[in-house]
Amino acid sequence: MASRDSSRNLQQLQGILSVLPPFFFACVALWFFSFLVQHSASPRQHLESGYSGNRPSDRLGTNAWSLKRNSESYETESEDFGGLPNLSCDLSSGRWVRAKRRKPSYDDGCRDIFKGWNCLRNNKSNARDILTWVWKPWQCNLPKMNATLFLERFKNKRIGFVGDSLNRNMYASFVCSLKQASQNVRKWRPAGADKALTFLDYNLTVAYHRTNLLARYGEWEAKDDGGALEKLGFVKGYRVDVDVPQSTWAEAPLFHDVLVLNTGHWWWAPEKFDPEKSPMLFFKRGEPIIPVKSPEEGLDMVLKYMLTYIERRMSAQGFMFLRTQSPRHFEGADWNEGGTCHRRKPLEEKEAVSWFSLSKRPGPNAEMNQANLHLSKAIRGTSFELLNISFLSSLRADAHPSLSAGKLHEDCMHWCLPGVTDTWNDMLVVRLLQLQKVSASDVEDSGF
Ligand SMILES: *[C@@H]1O[C@H](CO)[C@@H](O)[C@H](O)[C@H]1NC(C)=O
Ligand SMILES: *[C@@H]1O[C@H](CO)[C@@H](O)[C@H](O)[C@H]1NC(C)=O
Ligand SMILES: *[C@@H]1O[C@H](CO)[C@@H](O)[C@H](O)[C@H]1NC(C)=O
Ligand SMILES: *[C@@H]1O[C@H](CO)[C@@H](O)[C@H](O)[C@H]1NC(C)=O
Ligand SMILES: *[C@@H]1O[C@H](CO)[C@@H](O)[C@H](O)[C@H]1NC(C)=O
Repeated sequence: MASRDSSRNLQQLQGILSVLPPFFFACVALWFFSFLVQHSASPRQHLESGYSGNRPSDRLGTNAWSLKRNSESYETESEDFGGLPNLSCDLSSGRWVRAKRRKPSYDDGCRDIFKGWNCLRNNKSNARDILTWVWKPWQCNLPKMNATLFLERFKNKRIGFVGDSLNRNMYASFVCSLKQASQNVRKWRPAGADKALTFLDYNLTVAYHRTNLLARYGEWEAKDDGGALEKLGFVKGYRVDVDVPQSTWAEAPLFHDVLVLNTGHWWWAPEKFDPEKSPMLFFKRGEPIIPVKSPEEGLDMVLKYMLTYIERRMSAQGFMFLRTQSPRHFEGADWNEGGTCHRRKPLEEKEAVSWFSLSKRPGPNAEMNQANLHLSKAIRGTSFELLNISFLSSLRADAHPSLSAGKLHEDCMHWCLPGVTDTWNDMLVVRLLQLQKVSASDVEDSGF
């Protein structure tokens, strides 16, 4: 299965994180909402600006694909998006098109970019080329975020990214974008956050809470006066409390108005959580769960408890997202065996689909779909919404730091910044503005 490979992924992650200058990222926060930024004086395309949904929990439209794919034409010259995409437009499904004149939302000078992800500064040969591709959903255009507009609309709000280093990559992209509109920021670490910025002119806070499994975990060793696990022969491993959030984000649901959660990469990681030598041992209400569960079963339990934990604490006006798994693109071998990502262009859809296919023999990158099965199961019946960035990202084998990160091994897991995670944030911002608008009209409708 993909587990062997994912563990390497984990090690790569650890390797990269271990060399971080600890406070390198301590500056923060700008939502950059530039989709209106480049619109010309004559906004001739007020595309699909209606809002058909009437509940904040309406999911991104599912009735995509109603347009014929090949009849779609994209105007690379103009970006005069007059409004938000139609609620029924499925932003997750589309293709990458060239738009040579598109400016990135920020440049390599943003201090929140971890240096290993700064492909422009690290002279990655295609670093500029990466930025010429624009995500074009089949049914609508995805506007680039307008940071000024976003700051205005979300003033006095707090937004938390909770998850592993891929969510940190997304956080960095987000604050770099917002900083283009407002530089007056305060760095701090609210509610257990690893880093956060408040945009003082708008009283908008954006934070990153670091957590790998969401649940609390730590090393476990057998005791002499042994209990159930000792009787089963376990000597050491990792205790994972499926019903206890890690302290780094436990206060986040009460603090933030918007949460963007992820977990995934660390669950298939036998080099840390070795099934034999250091297995994950799941605990509930302080007691070991017997019989012992597999990591995949553990993930389901953790998601169930953590999503419930959050729902009980978030304000009724809050918005909760579970981000889908970010794909890796190691080619030829795995990350520590010389696997590479030297592509110069996005993959063809067919190629990407086979790379990540769960059927047949799962490849080293099948982890994406594997994780997503658990995530989509977990949100059923909750008010969480999936932020589905998997497919669009799966095409971008060209957009990882690769060797430019200056490491022994290529980084085909994180993303160059500016880069693909800017698109994730464009989607997030569209969704937030849609939800805000829908909630506001709900309030009007109900006579408040
Ligand atoms: C971005 O939003 C601001 C605030 O609403 C607006 O004044 C500005 O024109 C927008 N920028 C672009 C390029 O559309
Ligand atoms: C949104 O798109 C759907 C399907 O394409 C269409 O039926 C609907 O009329 C559109 N709504 C608005 C307000 O434009
Ligand atoms: C994400 O979006 C892609 C493209 O629309 C779709 O094929 C996939 O099933 C979605 N994944 C999940 C978990 O919803
Ligand atoms: C990138 O290229 C510039 C200009 O040639 C050079 O000054 C700089 O040191 C290079 N950066 C790295 C990380 O190699
Ligand atoms: C800033 O926003 C927070 C909520 O995010 C609010 O509690 C606080 O009162 C606001 N401060 C000011 C000065 O408006």
